[in-house]
Amino acid sequence: MKGVVLAGGLGTRLYPLTHATNKHLLPVYDKPMIFYPIATLVQAGITEIMVVTGGPYAGDFIRVLKNGKELGVTHLEYAYQEHEGGIADALSLCEDFADGGNIAVILGDNTTDADISEAVASFQKGAMVFLRRVPDPERFGVPVFDPQDPSKIIAIEEKPSQPKSRYAVTGLYLYDARVFDFIRQITPSERGELEITDINNKYIQLGELQWRELEGFWSDAGTFDSLFRTNAYWAQKITGRSCEEFLQDF
Ligand code: DAU
Repeated sequence: MKGVVLAGGLGTRLYPLTHATNKHLLPVYDKPMIFYPIATLVQAGITEIMVVTGGPYAGDFIRVLKNGKELGVTHLEYAYQEHEGGIADALSLCEDFADGGNIAVILGDNTTDADISEAVASFQKGAMVFLRRVPDPERFGVPVFDPQDPSKIIAIEEKPSQPKSRYAVTGLYLYDARVFDFIRQITPSERGELEITDINNKYIQLGELQWRELEGFWSDAGTFDSLFRTNAYWAQKITGRSCEEFLQDF
């Protein structure tokens, strides 16, 4: 399976941090943020990767990632998203790269230490989303479970003010090749974006959306709090020192 890392958008929620760089190049402890989602794919055996980016700092990715070899990537391609048209719009640029095969998609600001190898290896058809229980589901796509059969998702609601479950749909997805046809069928949301949630709802309507719960740490990093939390987690994990120990050092 090939992989896609979506790293477009302007990161406006992180201004002024993102006035002079792309969000996905900001530090997460000792590495640029985008190294982490790439590592998640590589650990799952996905080494042919397309990075979609955009905005004024797109050229910086090539200086940071180069040809990807240092990260275990065997084939690295880049695509440029001309407008911040949403996650599904960014994904639409990968159709030729996918070449009719299944793809694993990860948002460039999502980091996790979950191992998705088994899900990737067993995936054949339809779509798969990965869920995580969170304290603030209203910030995310939120699954609605069938009251008769709680193992079944009957809809996903994007940033609902009254979430119908305590789960977030994380920014990690597996799709078959039909995803590109579905992207052509959707229209922009109220925020003017082609929403990945609309794509996932298409698969739900066909009865072809599977889900798994992510084990381990997962966070996005698109706000000050989630960026700080992400940094704190990976600093502790990488060094083996607690946040308290970091503060005591001074
Ligand atoms: O983090 C998980 C959440 O990501 C999901 O629960 C939501 O369903 C999904 O819509 C998304 O929500 P956000 O509103 O947090 O997404 P955001 O606009 O921050 O974009 C996330 C990443 O997607 C961003 O880091 C880069 C990529 N992206 C986004 C846009 C809008 C692009 O590549 N191009 C874009 O135009």
